[in-house]
Amino acid sequence: PGPALGKTVPHPGGGSGGRGAIGRAREDVDRGAGGASTTLAGITVRTPVASVLDLGTGSGIQALHATRHATRVTATDVNPRALHIAALTLALSGVPAADLREGSLFAPVRADEKYDLIVSNPPFVISPGARLTYRDGGMGGDDLCRTLVQEAGERLGEGGFAQFLANWQHVEGEDWQDRLRSWVPRGCDAWIVQREVQDVNQYTELWLRDAGDHRGDTAEYRARYDAWLDEFEARGVRAVGFGWITLRRSGSDRPSVTVEEWSHPVEQPLGDTVRAHFERLDHLRTHDDAALLEARFRLAAEVVQEQVGLPGAEDPEHVVLRQNRGMRRATRVDTIGAGFAGVSDGTMSAGRILDAIAQLLGEDPVLLRDRTPAQIRLLVEQGFLEPVK
Ligand SMILES: C[S@@+](CC[C@H](N)C(=O)[O-])C[C@H]1O[C@@H](n2cnc3c(N)ncnc32)[C@H](O)[C@@H]1O
Repeated sequence: PGPALGKTVPHPGGGSGGRGAIGRAREDVDRGAGGASTTLAGITVRTPVASVLDLGTGSGIQALHATRHATRVTATDVNPRALHIAALTLALSGVPAADLREGSLFAPVRADEKYDLIVSNPPFVISPGARLTYRDGGMGGDDLCRTLVQEAGERLGEGGFAQFLANWQHVEGEDWQDRLRSWVPRGCDAWIVQREVQDVNQYTELWLRDAGDHRGDTAEYRARYDAWLDEFEARGVRAVGFGWITLRRSGSDRPSVTVEEWSHPVEQPLGDTVRAHFERLDHLRTHDDAALLEARFRLAAEVVQEQVGLPGAEDPEHVVLRQNRGMRRATRVDTIGAGFAGVSDGTMSAGRILDAIAQLLGEDPVLLRDRTPAQIRLLVEQGFLEPVK
């Protein structure tokens, strides 16, 4: 759908509140590429691959990007008009045609077909009833997104990625992170990033505006608003999360599933950052603490240290490492973590660096080797430190 941008939703309607709102549009209207389309295109892993599936292709924007790095692109949609527009998009852009297939979710894909990359900016809006095909999935609550995620696993080839934008319900008495973890299919690692959360009123208003309902009859607007809130009430939904879901088929019996909230600005495009995230997690999974201490790490590019404390104080109250690239994360570290990160240029093993720090600080090296791997793991997981191969 249009309005859900990478983080905030400043312009309901994908463009501006005025231009974007579609008024009394026919239900199979195609909105063209909006902020959400660009967000998905930006986070997509662009490794050269044999096959890409763009599910719910709409104007064909994701399929078009895929032609840059895939030998074969398959694009599906329930809306035959969308498939015509997608064909036109590709033809006008002078890129190879895609294999266009009509149908819902994975129905147009044969059971034995595997893809190296699946992308979808699906009709993720949680709404009472299917009104607009481009945004209302027509399955109850967040069931369409859940189904998409659950069924993607078996359509992925080994090492393949599936990347989605999605909305998910925050249900009273339920941990939203557990809800999302339960969607991840077997044999897949996952990285799920919640970019924003809206309460049910904000969410309802956003999508009523998107449909142009705010410009119509007031009584009708109220009735739609009430129906939407009633639907949320019946499902126990208090808020709606928006974010990115990436799966990678690893076949591991110890899948790594990260579900986190990161609402701060990021540096797009993020495709390389997404790929590197999974590679670092592979490294952590295959290295126990002893192996981790034998490994070498390098501080990621453009990480800086910030010290916060009273002016003139001898020691800072806390030290923060901040990335100026990719996810632009910031994390607090202690003296050991900051020292370790500072020395990590890929030449010395983690264990030897800790021994040197222990000597400098007069600490017991055995104890330091014992307690620091957890902190190193966190810094690697979050991309502050990169394993050196
Ligand atoms: C939000 S649009 C995304 C369009 C485009 N991929 C983009 O990124 O801008 C969602 C698309 O999914 C299609 N769609 C809706 N329900 C679907 C379903 N059950 N299966 C497949 N596609 C569906 C809509 O027709 C629409 O083209």
